Amino acid sequence: MTIGNENELEALRAVGRIVADVLSYMGTQIEPGMTTRELDDLGRARMEGQGARSAPELTYDFPGATCISVNNQVAHGIPGDLVIEAGDLVNIDVSAEKNGFYADTGASFTVPPTSEEQARLCLAARRALTRAVLAVKTGRRLNVIGQTIEREARKGGYSVIRNLQSHGVGRALHEEPTFIPPYSDPRDLRRIHEGMVFTIEPFFSTGADWAEDSGDGWTLVTEPDVMTVQYEHTLVATRRGPMVLTKGGF
Ligand code: CO
Ligand code: CO
Repeated sequence: MTIGNENELEALRAVGRIVADVLSYMGTQIEPGMTTRELDDLGRARMEGQGARSAPELTYDFPGATCISVNNQVAHGIPGDLVIEAGDLVNIDVSAEKNGFYADTGASFTVPPTSEEQARLCLAARRALTRAVLAVKTGRRLNVIGQTIEREARKGGYSVIRNLQSHGVGRALHEEPTFIPPYSDPRDLRRIHEGMVFTIEPFFSTGADWAEDSGDGWTLVTEPDVMTVQYEHTLVATRRGPMVLTKGGF
């Protein structure tokens, strides 16, 4: 969406604060031995306690309040009987609706002991998100996001998952501008305009270029020996620069 007035901005900020709160809360609750369903239940209670509804459930009938993707699961993992173990890499993606407005955030968490390789990968992807956010400026090409993400991935020696994208958000979970690619595309002539609301969500991998269907209808995976992480913010482009609506989640 494009924000047209202060009320819309306030409503978006409110739901942005909720998803950030739910994400950070879930991050602190991860314990080896718990199932991803137990973790999702905690997230749902926290979300619904603040008057918000799960966006994937509402929009796509997703079987869970949040998406929890462990190890070689890249995204859209269904909360279930999977037991979280020490050394795992757990991605939690939280998106919610309140009063007709949507926000979306996500992060990957390590379950100690954290390997050096995991720490380095997480740091590189977080840095890419920060740099891509800072590159947002009204009037600039939207593809500055993909250029920044791709450059940061190369610097760290990582690949980006090419079929998972950043996207417009606000009045729906996924809306215009759709498919904001995580790579440079000179044919993408779209520009960032004032009030534009969208996510930035780089997926960095130690080797995979594509996330593939796992066969359960939702979960996207890579080969087992590849690690992938994601960090996501919802933001608004303003004349004074990017305004992140989901601060504090990770
Ligand atoms: Co998300
Ligand atoms: Co998203």
